[in-house]
Order: sequence, then C-alpha cells, then structure tokens
Amino acid sequence: MGYLVTTPIFYVNAAPHLGHAYSTIVADVLARHHRQRGDDVFFLTGTDEHGEPVANVAAERGITPQELVDENAPRFQAMGPVLESSNDFFIRTSDPRHKAVVQEILTTVKEEGWVYEGRYEGWYCPKCADFKTETEIAEGNTCPIHGIALLRESETNWFFKLSAFQERLEQLYADRPDWVVPQSRRNEALAFIKGGLQDVSLSRNAITWGVEVPWDLEHVFYVWWDALLNYVTALRFGREGEDLTTSHWPATHVIGKDILKFHTIYWPALLMAAGMEVPTRVMVGGFLLVDGAKMSKSKGNVLDPFEAIEQYGADAVRFYLLREVAFGSDGSVSLDGLKLRYESELANDFGNLASRSTAMVRRYRGAVVPDVAVDASVAAEFDGLPDTVATMLDGGQISQALETIWERVRRLNRFVEEQAPWTLAKAEKAADEDPEAAARATAELDRVLRTLVEGVRSLAVLLHPWLPASTVVLLDALGAPELSWAGAELGTGAAGAVGELAPLFPKDRAAA
Ligand code: MSP
Repeated sequence: MGYLVTTPIFYVNAAPHLGHAYSTIVADVLARHHRQRGDDVFFLTGTDEHGEPVANVAAERGITPQELVDENAPRFQAMGPVLESSNDFFIRTSDPRHKAVVQEILTTVKEEGWVYEGRYEGWYCPKCADFKTETEIAEGNTCPIHGIALLRESETNWFFKLSAFQERLEQLYADRPDWVVPQSRRNEALAFIKGGLQDVSLSRNAITWGVEVPWDLEHVFYVWWDALLNYVTALRFGREGEDLTTSHWPATHVIGKDILKFHTIYWPALLMAAGMEVPTRVMVGGFLLVDGAKMSKSKGNVLDPFEAIEQYGADAVRFYLLREVAFGSDGSVSLDGLKLRYESELANDFGNLASRSTAMVRRYRGAVVPDVAVDASVAAEFDGLPDTVATMLDGGQISQALETIWERVRRLNRFVEEQAPWTLAKAEKAADEDPEAAARATAELDRVLRTLVEGVRSLAVLLHPWLPASTVVLLDALGAPELSWAGAELGTGAAGAVGELAPLFPKDRAAA
C-alpha cells in the first residue's frame, strides 16, 4: 500500500534549528514505522523558496533571492542525513518541474470557476506571509505569532473562492472527526471555519519572486498556494520514472500549529476545487520552547541540531525531543534536559538492559539463547503491543506510543531485578549440594535469559522508528536483523547465538 508522509517545507531565510528538525523527526518516525509494516512509503520534505519571507531577507542582505535560496537550501538538505531522516525526496519549490505543475493545477482551478479578479485591502504579516482576518490580529495591529507590526496592504489580486467551500469543509469535519489531530487543533480549525470564510488572494502583484501566473504575467501565485502544492507536485517527479499520484495520494501531513489554517482550511478547499481528495490526516505539533519562548531565529534562542547531534548522536536527539515534548503540546527543551534523558533513559534504562541481557547469555550460556518459552507474566504484558503502537501512531499519538513501549523497557528492568539471574547462576553451580534445586535454577535461568533477550529484541523492533541507528546495531548483535512489524510481537524471535555488544549509549558522550 502506498503511504505518503510529509513535513512542512522550510523557509530558507535562515539556518535550520531544532524546531525545524522536530517535524522532520516526527515524519521520519511515521515513515520508518510504515516501512516496517510493509507499506510503499514515500517520505517527502523540502524547502519553500518563494515569497516575502525569502525575498525580504535577500533584500536586507543585498543579494538576489535565488542566491539566498541556493546558499541556504543545502543547509536544510544537509540536516536530513544528520538526523537519520529517511526522506525519499527533497523538493525545492524553485525547481522548474514544481513550478510547471503548480501552474497546471491552478489553471484547472481557474477553469473550474473558482478564481476571479478583485481588490485586497487588509492586514498582512510578511513573516507569516499571511493575510490576517480580524480574529487573528493582536493588539496594536501586530502579528500574534511574530509580534511585529502588520502591514496595511491594498492591491489588485486574483482571488480564490474559499467562501464557496464553507459547507463542504464543515461537512468534512463532521464526517471525519479525526482528520486533524489532536482534537484541540481540530476544534480550533473548525471554529475558524464556522466564523465564516472569506475569499483569499491566489496571486500577488506587489512581489515578483514566485511562480508566474500563466494567465497574467504581472502576477506571481501567493506563496502559500505554491508551497502547499509541493505535496502533490513532487509525486510527479520525486521517484524516477513514476507518477505516484494515484498510488500515494492522499497524504499524512505533519505540521506545526502556526500553519494550521493553511493546512486544514485553505489546503482541503484548494484540493476540492482541483477535484482531488483531501489529505488522510493532518498531525499538528506544538512548539519547542527555550526558557518559555518559542525557539526561533528572530528570538535568537535556537538550538543547533548539528551541535546537539555531534555530541549525543541522532538517536538521542530524536528520542529526547519526542519524549520530552508530548506531540501536540508546547514544551521546553534544553541541552541539560537532553543530557539527563540520555543518561537516565537511554544509557541506563535501555542501553544497560541490552548490555546486561547479552552479557549474561554470553557468560552463563556460552552466547546461545536457551530455546525455551518466554516468561508468561512478561508475555502477558507485551501481548498486543505492536497493534497498540500502530494504532497510536496512525492517530498521531507519537509520544504516547513511545511511552507505551518505554513502560515495557521499565518492566524488563524490574524483571531482571526480581529474578536476579546472577543468584540463579550461583544456585545452578551448586549441584553437588542440592541437585534438584540446581536443576530448577537452570530451568529458571533459561527462562529468564530467553525472556530478556527476546524482550530486548521485540523492544528494538518497536523502537526502531525513534532510535534507527542503535536498534540496528542491537538487532545485529542479537543475530536478528529483521525489522518487519510482524516480528515485533514478543515470542516471534528465534533463540539463536548472541554476539558482543558495545555500549549503545556510552556514558562518556554525556560527560564531554
Ligand atoms: N514554509 C512554511 C511551511 C509551508 S508548508 C506547505 C513555514 N516554514 S518555516 O520554516 O517557518 O516552518 C516550518 C515548520 O517548522 C513549521 O511547521 C513550524 O511550525 C515549525 N517550527 C518552527 N519553529 C518551531 C519551534 N520552535 N518548535 C516546533 N516547530 C517549529 O512555515
């Protein structure tokens, strides 16, 4: 089955920061998970290169917009591999192939009667590239997101008849209550729609940096239409020699809460106008905060993903962000917080569990896992876990899914302490004194070791989307490299030979 997952495409007016990395990591978790399920995944990300946010910064720096995007787009492109992002394509909206499809689709929308020429008069935020409605304006005519003064714009534009989609949008929200998650964001979008939709500019003539309107060359398309359309244009050329539109559309979109209106109101309306299906789901994340404020270039409080990863590795940064900040809510992040979770959860809870389990099999059983049944009480607590996790991920409950798995990490750690395999190992050696007790200890130790190694294997498969590099190392050491979701269930792994395992999350990394 085709599965398309997308990140927002990033404005290339500044360098990438952890706030950008966040959407990429969430989408990558979904992409990897769906590959494990056997889906034909197309994971799309890229850069949004037109419009005022880019043109203004280029003007400030005295370079052309093209020079600016050519300088910055590679920095976003470079972020992918560093994050272990498995994106299948990276679209740049300055790509002529993208521009041609934007022109084609928006011409269809016009031919279908959804476009007219009119005059725009109102408030505009050049950083959001957003025409603000009365309810979206903060005190003193400022932007509630950027805090800057809004501009009074007045120009002749081509308009999109958004208001004509009022009822169909309301119906969409009624028919599919979870097409936007979490619920709070869905309710926010619906309230905006119920407040009454106004038509919105389709083109601008005040700026020139954009995709030309083919029927009126004095205009470029308003950057948001050009940007949103990346999600479908890339399907035409993102995979060599194929058109993925039929096999992969509609998409699952991962976005931040500041771009909710565009994705949950403008975008489905445009798709309806173009005769296309609306997205499967829009998953809306909150903001990463630093000392209580949104991490952003303009606030000067950004954390550099490249630096954090250099020290702790991509797995740790991915894990930290998704664990620290419940997806959908805002949450504070810091390098101290990263260090803390690295040490307590990755190094101690999971890394140590993996090291101990493999080391004990090597010490007590000559590196071969005993071929016995797993412990019944542990099995009961792992039962159905892959289905639960899959359902949570489909519903956008990214952090809850991780917590559900982590409860089992903690469960196995308790299991080691309760069962004290080192005591069983001593008892089985004392066969001279009490052969019966020794035989019992042998059977118990077999069960404990098998449960631990099989538990760690199942956890590694489940955790793979969050910790792609270390879980592969671990599964290789367990002699069970298979990642498929069918093998995520506890007890489905074979009892084989176990190799040596170096610490997955070395403590000295955090000490540096
Ligand atoms: N170009 C538009 C998106 C077009 S999608 C068709 C845009 N770009 S952006 O670079 O400003 O932001 C990209 C994404 O990063 C947005 O989803 C935004 O919410 C997210 N983030 C930027 N800073 C963030 C945080 N501090 N925390 C979490 N996400 C944040 O908007």
